[in-house]
Amino acid sequence: MTRYVGAIDQGTTSTRFIVFDREGEMIACAQREHTQIYPKPGHVEHCPKEIWANTQAVMREALDAAGLTPTDLLSIGITNQRETTLLWDRRTGEPLHNALVWQDTRVEPLVASLAREGGRDRFRAQTGLPLASYFSGLKLAWLLDHVDGARARADAGEILFGNVDTWLVWNLTGGPEGGLHVTDVTNASRTLLMSLADLTWDPDLCRSLGVPEAILPRIVSSSEVYGETRAPFPGVPIAGILGDQQAALFGQTCFRAGEAKNTYGTGCFLLMNTGAEPVPSTCGLVTTVGYRLDGQAPVYALEGSIAITGALVQWLRDNLGLIRDSAEIESLAAGVADNGGLYFVPAFSGLYAPHWCESARGLIIGLTRYANRGHIARAALEATAFQTREVVEAMVEDSGIDIRELRTDGGMVGNDLLMQFQADILDVAVVRPKVTETTALGAAYAAGLATGYWNSLDDLVANWGVDRRWEPGMAAGPREWLYAGWSRAVKRSFDWAEP
Ligand code: G3P
Repeated sequence: MTRYVGAIDQGTTSTRFIVFDREGEMIACAQREHTQIYPKPGHVEHCPKEIWANTQAVMREALDAAGLTPTDLLSIGITNQRETTLLWDRRTGEPLHNALVWQDTRVEPLVASLAREGGRDRFRAQTGLPLASYFSGLKLAWLLDHVDGARARADAGEILFGNVDTWLVWNLTGGPEGGLHVTDVTNASRTLLMSLADLTWDPDLCRSLGVPEAILPRIVSSSEVYGETRAPFPGVPIAGILGDQQAALFGQTCFRAGEAKNTYGTGCFLLMNTGAEPVPSTCGLVTTVGYRLDGQAPVYALEGSIAITGALVQWLRDNLGLIRDSAEIESLAAGVADNGGLYFVPAFSGLYAPHWCESARGLIIGLTRYANRGHIARAALEATAFQTREVVEAMVEDSGIDIRELRTDGGMVGNDLLMQFQADILDVAVVRPKVTETTALGAAYAAGLATGYWNSLDDLVANWGVDRRWEPGMAAGPREWLYAGWSRAVKRSFDWAEP
């Protein structure tokens, strides 16, 4: 009997369940979007129960649509939006608050006060991370301090913390009835609470952020059998967990030091495998765990995290009504020859890598009577490519490795105009693999490796193939002139939120 491996991909805007075969081909897929909750400027929340309900629904729907049953699944892997922070009651499973999404900037004052005491890089040596509202430890501290009774209940051992991976595994494995409270190393490496060298919670960091260790999950590897599902159907081993960007690195089979990928989703996340040693960044990148297979040493990565790329297209659709669906951005942008002098800096959550400027805010600059909808669409797409160039330059500087070719994946890679402009502005070839669902595929690979579906990393490399390649075609003069305009625009966005 043919069996498959499934992957839950719980992202910022939607949840998917995808079933893969041995060649890495998609056999079945179901997807549901969840509500984005914006209570105030800068605040972004998700409802944990909606995410769990959607997860169960897509698991059932994908199997039903392909005429499969749970017994067709050898195992499942989980990949998730990282840093998004949850607290819940261990006896009832009730969340204490909506999840604070990674883009949420409400902990800015805490970031500022910690930075005043010890500088923005005070935790970099232990965690690989700068102080920023992005990471979950600060969001957890905020919840403990602002939700009525949370701190006392944490001290009494009544509540649990998790990122989305932990929330899902706990619910999948029985919730209040013995649910497993675990997180994998890649997710743990985004909390500001884990020592990057030891891969354990660091008591000093926990003390500095005021987080009691008792509420933290057990850190596990990215690929091993953690337990079996009890819901939405019983008996399927859960055997892989990776934060979504690390999952895409894994799904793109970037197993050798120097191999890199860029995922174009809500934001863009460019990760380079740096091998067995964590490489410290001096250029505004993040040092993170790439993955750790069961019983093996961790593999580290350098990451350039960009908060808003695809989300800008959604914003043009949902908040401005400039387009009806996201795909329309390409034809609108293609209707003009160039950006008409417009730059769009989407600093909606401040700016992440390489600037880490909490107080930056979005701007459109260069407006004249000449500018039209097409120029705004074009500037929005170009913003993705310019931001990627910023992190590529930082990556080359930090790693000392030239990026000669960029592997891409994620929702925006169907946009030819963007991919060509990306190659042009980087002056580097851009490559799209045959399977672009590399995030889910990475989680499936992790689970399938742990359960003997695939035997080695070489099996996975054999599945990778090129679908399309964009060669750079822009002369140095216009390329550098365009990029210089972007750099000037970015500087204007800094410190707008300062009082
Ligand atoms: O760090 C945030 C990242 O994991 C979110 O990814 O694809 O859900 O927007 P995505």
